[in-house]
Amino acid sequence: EIPLRLVGSEMCIRDRINCECKSFYKRGNDMSKLLIQGGKKLSGSFDVPAAKTAYLPILAASVLSEEKVVLHNYPGFADTENMCNILSSIGVKIERQDDCLIVDPTSLFSWSIESELASQVRSSIFMLGALLAKERKAKVAYPGGCEIGVRPIDIHLSGFRKMGVKVEEKHGYIYCDASSIHSAFLTLDFPSVGATESLMMAACLCDGETRILNAAKEPEIVDLQNFLNAMGAEVHGAGSSEIVIYGVKKLHGCEYDPIKDRIIAGTYMIATAMCGGDVLINGVKSANLQALIDKLDKTACLIDVKNDKIRVTRGDCRLGCLGKIETSVYPGLPTDLQAQLLALATISEGTSIIVENVFESRFKHVPELIKMGADVHVCDRVAVVRGCNALYGASVCGMELRGTASLVLAGLVAEGYTTVSGVKHVDRGYNKIETDLALLGADVKRIDD
Ligand code: EPZ
Repeated sequence: EIPLRLVGSEMCIRDRINCECKSFYKRGNDMSKLLIQGGKKLSGSFDVPAAKTAYLPILAASVLSEEKVVLHNYPGFADTENMCNILSSIGVKIERQDDCLIVDPTSLFSWSIESELASQVRSSIFMLGALLAKERKAKVAYPGGCEIGVRPIDIHLSGFRKMGVKVEEKHGYIYCDASSIHSAFLTLDFPSVGATESLMMAACLCDGETRILNAAKEPEIVDLQNFLNAMGAEVHGAGSSEIVIYGVKKLHGCEYDPIKDRIIAGTYMIATAMCGGDVLINGVKSANLQALIDKLDKTACLIDVKNDKIRVTRGDCRLGCLGKIETSVYPGLPTDLQAQLLALATISEGTSIIVENVFESRFKHVPELIKMGADVHVCDRVAVVRGCNALYGASVCGMELRGTASLVLAGLVAEGYTTVSGVKHVDRGYNKIETDLALLGADVKRIDD
């Protein structure tokens, strides 16, 4: 006979144990770590894979086709794998052939994306625009993605509503009825990459002329336009702030080779600037990284550009002061390189000011860098970084994709050994980062506890 209060506390203890077990189990799922011995220079050549942020909307848009679509150079990041799972869950057949994906949307049988899949990635939200265009209805659970801010979807939804879509949000799902969808002139409150892509897809099979003003201008938006047009769509103006879509009756299959990942390229350019050495980055148009090149060239390293080859060299000179770094929408400095640049700033001369203008909570890597000896103070969206002579190895934990990448870069230059946990985050956007870096001369190993 256990007195009620004990039962309460026992229940509480049991719950806590269960909870810890569960959380342990959850932690157990991603116990792998990266073990890095710092101090190695980087050298060699790196072929950049296809871009995650190009592949994800293109995978969603493949649903619009009446025939098979062949996508080349599939990168196999965790996020693209999750997107393939989402497509398979609604009947899209996906076959891998060498480095291609053959996507067959002709057996699509559902317009509903469940929470356990949708919540894995931010890009599940793209399925709304694609399903509304193709099926005229959709039920999609709220998206997941890196925890770098609230990441609302209001701009997506207000665009759909202006196109006559009935949108209802309840029980964690977005229910849409697009039976009376029509073209519209839309002005985005913010040049949101995802909202621009969602609305481009929604308008493709919708009679009439749709205009998207204050559209995002990222290279991945241009790539989505080129993919849609390869399927027979009529999309123009991507890369500028005004995109025009003339709706067509249906789209046919195509073969397509998405652009390369400028953020991976930028990450390894920064890594070379930090470690010293001589690395040739192949496959990315330098124009897609001009803001980074302007920031790094002659302060942190020497950059030589020839077509889609970017050569980064740094000798033994001290890293110059980066000064003020402000992230912005394209063509400004990408927010997805902020964490990596902050890691660079921790060992650069003088004091750097880093302003994160795109996401409101994107400094989660800072406390971990401080464990490695970095001198950083954060207030709201501003980080003040006083350069130090050296970082020292420590056990650190990644919390989101690019922040975890920045901890890896810090480990490459830190004295001694660094272990980086939270590897599942970096796997979302880099395919075996340890292999990429080891091929360039770094001492990085993945250890599974
Ligand atoms: C895309 O996210 C990328 N993700 C992000 O990459 C990238 O950082 C971001 O664009 C900016 O370039 C994918 O493409 C899957 P946004 P997205 O809509 O579309 C606010 C990485 O590391 N906003 O341009 O979610 C939003 O909160 C990831 O690879 C609204 O307020 O970015 C943010 O503050 C991280 N309402 C700002 O706009 C909306 O409806 C930019 O977001 C939509 C966005």
